[in-house]
Amino acid sequence: MQFFVDTADTEAISELAGMGVLDGVTTNPTLVHKSGKDPKSVIGEICSIVGELPVSAEVFSTECEAMVEEGKDLAGIADNVVVKVPLTWDGLKACKRLRANDIRVNVTLCFSANQALIAAKAGATYISPFIGRLDDLGLEGMELIRDIREIYDNYGFSTEILAASIRSPLHVSQAAIAGADVATIPPEVIRKLVDHPLTDKGLAAFLSDAAKIGK
Ligand code: E4P
Repeated sequence: MQFFVDTADTEAISELAGMGVLDGVTTNPTLVHKSGKDPKSVIGEICSIVGELPVSAEVFSTECEAMVEEGKDLAGIADNVVVKVPLTWDGLKACKRLRANDIRVNVTLCFSANQALIAAKAGATYISPFIGRLDDLGLEGMELIRDIREIYDNYGFSTEILAASIRSPLHVSQAAIAGADVATIPPEVIRKLVDHPLTDKGLAAFLSDAAKIGK
């Protein structure tokens, strides 16, 4: 499974890129706002940090024509920009148009299997089902990943399933078991993937025994 980081924090992105564990980056207007930087310049900065890895940059418009223009503009920032559009009627029309211009598209804010199906038919490069926000409503977000996987496999759609709104390490492993192609994960959750109390306990014991033999 590919690991994308879900942030516009360039320091966090640089650290992860340097570790070689990163396959891409996703942003959204909320994350860009949090960065405190100008939207286009922060996307440019992220693109230059990660080289050729895909960087999703979301449009701010909601009407098809405006989304297409904004998408083309974002795609002009760097070759690795993937334009993110919302899963709306206009968003799907814009997706089709941008794909016809050879621009990769991430269709975001997906909450149902039928939405994922129609996005694949519109040529989406990635579909972003939001697991955590479904869990927040008392639903089982992961069920959606399983359903989309089955539907895409039934019909041979090449749209990649990008598990989004990931809130915990459990979400990551469950999305991998469910067959998501990508998980986009906040930096603090990526860090938690490494932590295990038994690792800390084992290391403390090894270090204490090493000290006993003068090391
Ligand atoms: C996906 O691309 C979104 O940026 C993100 O995963 C949303 O997550 P949230 O529900 O934690 O805001």
